Amino acid sequence: MEAHLDIAGVGKRFRQTVVLEDLSLAMRKGEFVSLLGPSGCGKTTLLRILAGLLSPDGGRLHLAGRDIGRLPPHRRNIGVVFQNYALFPHLTVFDNVAFGLRARGTPREEIAPRVRRLLDMVRLGPMASRAIAQLSGGQQQRVAMARALAVNPELILLDEPLSALDRKLRETMQVELRQLLRELGMTAVFVTHDQEEALALSDRIAVMNAGRIEQLATPAEIYARPASPFVLDFVGQSTALHGEVVEAGDGRLSVQTAYGVLRAQGHFAKRARVLVAVRPERIAPRPAPDAEWTGIDLPLAAQTFLGSRRLLHGHLGGGDRAIVELPAETEISGDMLPISWRITDTLVFPAPDVAE
Ligand SMILES: Nc1ncnc2c1ncn2[C@@H]1O[C@H](COP(=O)(O)OP(=O)(O)OP(=O)(O)O)[C@@H](O)[C@H]1O
Ligand SMILES: [Mg+2]
Repeated sequence: MEAHLDIAGVGKRFRQTVVLEDLSLAMRKGEFVSLLGPSGCGKTTLLRILAGLLSPDGGRLHLAGRDIGRLPPHRRNIGVVFQNYALFPHLTVFDNVAFGLRARGTPREEIAPRVRRLLDMVRLGPMASRAIAQLSGGQQQRVAMARALAVNPELILLDEPLSALDRKLRETMQVELRQLLRELGMTAVFVTHDQEEALALSDRIAVMNAGRIEQLATPAEIYARPASPFVLDFVGQSTALHGEVVEAGDGRLSVQTAYGVLRAQGHFAKRARVLVAVRPERIAPRPAPDAEWTGIDLPLAAQTFLGSRRLLHGHLGGGDRAIVELPAETEISGDMLPISWRITDTLVFPAPDVAE
């Protein structure tokens, strides 16, 4: 099936600096994809290229079967919501949402019902005649959403639209935003550097690093099977120990770490330098009970109580780290804790370049 949005081989450099490198991404209609990555990795640059505000150095852009690469922004049929809402402060809520429709010469009798319907959808119907300055941040954000959706775009681009909101409101808005886009069957590219937001909202996440997509997969896949140490580190928490493969064969490994020998699954050569990792909730506070488990004695540094759960932090050296998640009521005392996890839950990566 042909992709609704097809980004193929897009690159961008500013002077000598490569900001996007041969980036490709295909999305189906109605799909919600998050671009997740650290500051400066190229997320906003990619959105600006899609919106037509910046030209790429190369590559192709197709949307709904059309080559949009050379079209000016207003002919791409793309709605845009940026971090600062950029609403027109002197216009009412209604007029802000109607703006794009009027600019396109939509007949007056079609404008009013469409604007009303969108304002109802974002639950701002009763506030249509208010001035923008009389709205809260979350309400302004919803006006911006309604305005971007008013012209019925083929694609909506959202650049950290919720980042200015407080945590509680942000969580409410996340759910509402997702519901609204789903109802409309809207295809969306959503930029965030908040991993929880990306995990909660997305059909798929594109984890970006230095202008490239490191992994494109569902939230569950990204969390359970990160493709690289970068993704492992950027999405979720983990215990990660460096080591050397001391035995290998039949897809089984023994890895010598500074804290003992760990067993894992994977295909590496003997003597290969690797990074062995496991997610915090996969770890049990006890020695390995049988041959399906592996573990170490963990020197404890600190505990943090988080209401529903408790996190134990290991005191490790040499770039190793350890974090264990336990139910809040688990009592742990002492300086040393035997911990273990299933071999099938163990992740193994080639050791990242020390120079990185
Ligand atoms: N007009 C420009 N001229 C030169 N360099 C630029 C320009 N715009 C962006 N850059 C650089 O390109 C890189 C990527 O910027 P971009 O705004 O896409 O990052 P981002 O992933 O959106 O980051 P953030 O999470 O901080 O918003 C950065 O190193 C930035 O300094
Ligand atoms: Mg940005």
